[in-house]
Amino acid sequence: MNILIAGASGAVGRMLVPRLVQAGHTVTGTTHRPENIQVIESLGAKALVADAFDRDATFAAVREASPEVVIHQLTSLGSRVFAENSRIRVEGTRHLVDAAREAGVKRIIVQSIAWAYQPGNGPATENVPLDVESADPSRKRSVDAVAALEETAAEIPEHVILRYGLFYGPGTWYTSGGYMAEEMREGRMSANEGVSSFVHVEDAAHAAFQALDWPSGAYNIVDDEPARGSDWLPIFAESVGVSLLHTTVCEGQPWERGAANAKARGLGWKPLYPSWRTGFGGNH
Ligand SMILES: NC(=O)c1ccc[n+]([C@@H]2O[C@H](COP(=O)([O-])OP(=O)(O)OC[C@H]3O[C@@H](n4cnc5c(N)ncnc54)[C@H](OP(=O)(O)O)[C@@H]3O)[C@@H](O)[C@H]2O)c1
Repeated sequence: MNILIAGASGAVGRMLVPRLVQAGHTVTGTTHRPENIQVIESLGAKALVADAFDRDATFAAVREASPEVVIHQLTSLGSRVFAENSRIRVEGTRHLVDAAREAGVKRIIVQSIAWAYQPGNGPATENVPLDVESADPSRKRSVDAVAALEETAAEIPEHVILRYGLFYGPGTWYTSGGYMAEEMREGRMSANEGVSSFVHVEDAAHAAFQALDWPSGAYNIVDDEPARGSDWLPIFAESVGVSLLHTTVCEGQPWERGAANAKARGLGWKPLYPSWRTGFGGNH
């Protein structure tokens, strides 16, 4: 198949491109940094430069690639300016979906998150509504952007929404030398009793690969073990070589409930790293 990955140089894109190429697909990847062209080409894809906020550039890239499938892995978290990330979900997705529609693209696979659900007991399934009603203003900005991303993607006839857990592994915040490891080293991270779901970035990429054949809909792509901060944090600390002298444990938020992966597992997605408990070990 002819596939365009928007955001091919990111944490997921770097793992996904070689898989697709190896499977015989023709892959074009976009970046908005000319210096990342070489990164994408070295993975075996053709590279195009297009800023997601530039509608014309996005249209030009999609026209040039003329893909059958678009895989949307655009985020803007490298700089940790979260408003920019919300903007890319809303504006960047709008440009990409409009360009894909013009090009007659039949299928889109998009990167969403698994922690935008309404509060409730236990890990959320995909049937739980997004938390657009009760979220506080700062969370609401992010949840609204996620809702916009997912609704916009649904304008493409076949649309698969991958609601990822927190990434860990190479190129992510949760790895040795990554942002969270450094925050922890500086004593700026405290455990909380809220529950999170993690996913290894390799498993995240594999889900995007398998989603080429999945029915339209949303899928939680998370490992098997939603975890309280007080459980995972000491194990993460050990994996990145930080000794925790004292950790204050605070309460979690009602929406911090983790997510359930039965739907994706039911389609044959099987994480190589079923739990962060052992998966963090690869952070050394
Ligand atoms: N579910 C999660 O936990 C989750 C999800 C996403 C990211 N993160 C974390 O965020 C950190 C950074 O993620 P990342 O490495 O994937 O990078 P990122 O900075 O979030 O960028 C992701 C992709 O989007 C592209 N991009 C960013 N801004 C763009 C723009 N304006 N126009 C076009 N393309 C744009 C990037 O390409 P160029 O910069 O090459 O243009 C890259 O290919 C990692 O630590 C990761 O773990 C976590």
